Amino acid sequence: MYQINANYQKLPGSYLFSTIAKKVAAFTKANPDKKIIRLGIGDVTQPIAPAVIKALHQAVDEMADAATFRGYAPDLGYDFLRSAIVENDYASKGCGISADEIFVSDGAKSDSGNIQEIFSQECRIAVTDPVYPVYVDSNVMAGRCGEYDSASGMWSNVIYMPCVRENGFVPEFPKETPDLIYLCFPNNPTGTTITKEKLQEWVDYANKQGAVIIYDAAYEAYISEDHVAHSIYECEGAKTCAIEIRSFSKNAGFTGVRLGFTVVPKELKCGGISLNAMWARRHGTKYNGAPYIIQRAGEAVYSKEGKTQLKEQVDYYMKNADTIKTGLKDAGYEVYGGVNAPYIWLKTPEGMTSWEFFDYLLENANVVGTPGSGFGPSGEGYFRLTAFGSYENTAAALERIRKL
Ligand code: MLT
Repeated sequence: MYQINANYQKLPGSYLFSTIAKKVAAFTKANPDKKIIRLGIGDVTQPIAPAVIKALHQAVDEMADAATFRGYAPDLGYDFLRSAIVENDYASKGCGISADEIFVSDGAKSDSGNIQEIFSQECRIAVTDPVYPVYVDSNVMAGRCGEYDSASGMWSNVIYMPCVRENGFVPEFPKETPDLIYLCFPNNPTGTTITKEKLQEWVDYANKQGAVIIYDAAYEAYISEDHVAHSIYECEGAKTCAIEIRSFSKNAGFTGVRLGFTVVPKELKCGGISLNAMWARRHGTKYNGAPYIIQRAGEAVYSKEGKTQLKEQVDYYMKNADTIKTGLKDAGYEVYGGVNAPYIWLKTPEGMTSWEFFDYLLENANVVGTPGSGFGPSGEGYFRLTAFGSYENTAAALERIRKL
């Protein structure tokens, strides 16, 4: 008789955003006349930029001609895209990353969930709290997190690093020694970030402890302040302790197109074994490469027109962030984030729990956000709003919240 992977049974309920979708669907069914404004999941709303659409069309036409048709993509990514990534994201910042350290994939969610596979089951993970749920859930599935305590919302074998207003949402070095450290800056969900100086301290810490930092930089395009690093490889010594995950979803609107990449430096070695070679082996076995047309679209993100158009899109979303931030402040809320990230993190009013505030906002303003506690125990008492809506909807949502 077969056995299932019992670790799945340990996962509480459904994935956060599925729970929210179900709640909203039930509310909509009961209140069909209400116009819901969704500022919950961080999904983009603006169309793909013209330069990218043009590249997509061209690539589709190539697929229609036997002379230019492409079958399986190279499983680590086409050279044209890997080179464009190196040139634009790394060489220009003096990071010293080469094309064979870039692994193109279908997105940061898959990579951040899958990367744990190349580490031993004995590895102890440390996560910031609140945290993007994928990091913890993927390690739970792999049997690395111990048991779940529903009272505290914590896993017995996970090291939590609270990020709350009291410490400026900056994680402190944990008392226990981690093997894998998940960091995401600019941060999802808090919308806050850390200085390059502080990030350097984390790199030094990881090198000293013999730990690996899994650095999710999906929101780097939203950085507006000079003292914030766009890549962890801007820090000295990061190539011996850090893996960086990037996405095209948030900077180029690829949430429905799917494209991302992971950087595994060749210098990153465990007892002489190259993690780059391991990830290449894993990729080659389990992945047949991101589609050619999508990689051409990714290349266009780095074209001159693409860069200009995408900068406008980022500015558009950041105007929303500012609208939310200012609107909430005017309404008396305590608000964080929204300067280097498209997320606003607010303190729930009058001691409401995150889910109580979720219901309150849905019922009274017909606005959907994301309860902070869904991201971890230290998210309790906080709430996330995304700046990825249309400007009209964002302004309307704020007007409704102000009237409450
Ligand atoms: C979020 O809302 O946290 C993000 O959309 C999740 C993701 O990028 O997968």
